[in-house]
Amino acid sequence: MKKLFSRLLNKKKHKPTAPADYDGLSRQEAFSKVYRDRIWSRTTPDESPFHSGEGSRNPEVTGPYVAAISGFLQEFGSGKSVADIGCGDFEIGRQLVPFATRYMAFDIVPELIEHHRANETADHLSFDVLDLVEDPLPPADIILVRQVLQHLSNDDVLSFVRKFPGSCQHLIVTEHLPADENFVPNLEHDSGPGIRLSVNSGVDLSAAPFNLQASSKRILCDVLAYDGRIRTTLYSF
Ligand SMILES: C[S@@+](CC[C@H](N)C(=O)[O-])C[C@H]1O[C@@H](n2cnc3c(N)ncnc32)[C@H](O)[C@@H]1O
Repeated sequence: MKKLFSRLLNKKKHKPTAPADYDGLSRQEAFSKVYRDRIWSRTTPDESPFHSGEGSRNPEVTGPYVAAISGFLQEFGSGKSVADIGCGDFEIGRQLVPFATRYMAFDIVPELIEHHRANETADHLSFDVLDLVEDPLPPADIILVRQVLQHLSNDDVLSFVRKFPGSCQHLIVTEHLPADENFVPNLEHDSGPGIRLSVNSGVDLSAAPFNLQASSKRILCDVLAYDGRIRTTLYSF
């Protein structure tokens, strides 16, 4: 009984928040609303104007990611340009900037990009608005997409996947997945604040309907957290 109750609670926690509020909103309007309503900071209230959620700030989750990506960037050698798409509050991106020759950060939310332009400074760092579904991807050696695709519908993810190969040498994708590997990937989901964990699913770009073709695939980092795992996968083309 206790187990069932806790499972129900966990399910509720990961259910998309007030999906009816998002009916009819564009992707840009939806994610602007998420930040405005502080949907991702409800469990960890703070004063920062933009908050991308605990998974973007908890060192137990972010530490292994920053170590893995900075290690990869050092391994990759000099002259590397990085595009961080869906950069969010930039709590993580900021730690990676020193390891790139050029660091281009993008997000779909214009107010957030304006905020970063006013507050983050490094000569080789830039911020721009970009929708990874509709817009052409920037020229970069390495594209980072951390905990972004999990919020998008399968049609939206597919539009992104169709840009590969041809957009970069390495695509590094981080997704929140069920802890038990025996889940059905890529169940349909509306674009917005919630993720597929509420239906025991998660985004796997190698599986149908996406079937991303890469010359190699490697897990760079895998952290058990928040009723699931946060897995970072490197796809090289
Ligand atoms: C959960 S946050 C993750 C932020 C950051 N990558 C991190 O891990 O801390 C997801 C971010 O993706 C952005 N986003 C959602 N859809 C997007 C799209 N189609 N194109 C670009 N950014 C998008 C949101 O605005 C939000 O900032």
